[in-house]
Parts: sequence; structure tokens; C-alpha cells
Amino acid sequence: MNETLKVIKSRRTTRKFKSEQIKNEELQAIIEAGLYAPSAHNQQSWNFTVIQNSELIKELNRESKEAAKGFNDEVIQKMANNEKLDVFYGAPTLIIVSGMDSAMMPQVDCAAATQNMLIAAESLNIGSCWNGFISFLFNGPKAEEYKKKLNIPEGFTPYYAIALGYKDTKAINAPARREGTVQYIR
Ligand SMILES: Cc1cc2nc3c(=O)[nH]c(=O)nc-3n(C[C@H](O)[C@H](O)[C@H](O)COP(=O)(O)O)c2cc1C
Repeated sequence: MNETLKVIKSRRTTRKFKSEQIKNEELQAIIEAGLYAPSAHNQQSWNFTVIQNSELIKELNRESKEAAKGFNDEVIQKMANNEKLDVFYGAPTLIIVSGMDSAMMPQVDCAAATQNMLIAAESLNIGSCWNGFISFLFNGPKAEEYKKKLNIPEGFTPYYAIALGYKDTKAINAPARREGTVQYIR
């Protein structure tokens, strides 16, 4: 198996990070991988907001959980009301991925960029977690306040965050793959 295939297969979501910050050249390599994702009509409809301020990351954790309290789902309620839960798992870096509202397929472009960044991180042995939980904040009553606070450009909607940092976990096996998801017509 070549290195790219190995990295794709070995990437797992990291849910415990060391507090040590990743190196700037590692961050730049990860961002560059995101920038080189495919996009519908080559619109490159993403915007990345890098946050390396631990107080702000803590605040986003608190506010995301607060906003999630308004969501009618048992699992989400449990997470939202868990005072101890850090939805970013102690990651020292967050990248908020926002999409251009006027683009053709901004969610898809942003997902492609996000996955590129996750794979790039794994190739550097940096842990990552794709975080959809932050969308509660950006769909909640404080959405506009936080879009302003984070300088999200006008006309963009934040979709996800990527938590990044050195892994504080042992390698874990991938969950079993769901069967019957591929059909061949030859
Ligand atoms: C769109 C999306 C949103 C996700 N949101 C979260 C999240 O908010 N918190 C979290 O811990 N993991 C989140 N994940 C990670 C998934 O739980 C994880 O990818 C899945 O359980 C498979 O595990 P693996 O990444 O180790 O293969 C998200 C993944 C995707 C693709």
C-alpha cells in the first residue's frame, strides 16, 4: 500500500489532545492541503479562520454547548448539559471552515477542504477532529455576534470546525465498515 492510502486508512478522530501548540509550518501545510481541495466550478468557496487563543476556544466550547441546549435530541442534550465536556477535546488549534453563501455547493466544497486538512494532519502525525457541534452556535441566537467576533467575512456561513493538535491517545482501530455500500455494474 502506498503512503497516501496508508494515511487515509490510519486517520482516526482524535478526542484527546496535548496542550502543546503545533508548529507553524505544520499548520501551514495543513491549510495548504485545504486550499488545494476540489470545488464545484473551481469556486474555492471556503474560508478558514484559524484560532489559537485558548481562552477563545474555551468560550466557543461553552457557547456551542449553550446553543445546543435548544436542540431537541437526547444525545445532544446530554452533551450540552455536560459541564465537563470539552467539545474540542483540549485541542490548541481550531480551524473554522465557512462557505460562501452565493457559491454553487459551498457545503460540499468545505467538506472536501476539511477532509484534505484531516488527511494532511494525519500525514504529519497530528491529531484532528471534524467538529460539527459548533454549528449549534452558528445556527443559534448568538450566530451573528460570533460571526462578527470571529471576523467571518460577509456572505459566508461557518459550517464546521477542525480541532487540531498533537495526539494524546494511542492509535485505535477503525470502526468496522458498514457492509453492502458498494455496487458494481460492469
Ligand atoms: C460532518 C461531521 C461532523 C462531525 N462532528 C463531530 C463532532 O462534533 N464531535 C466529534 O467528536 N466528532 C465529530 N465527527 C467525527 C465522527 O464522529 C467520526 O469521524 C466517526 O465517528 C468515525 O470515526 P473516525 O473519524 O475515527 O474514523 C464528525 C464527523 C463529520 C464527518
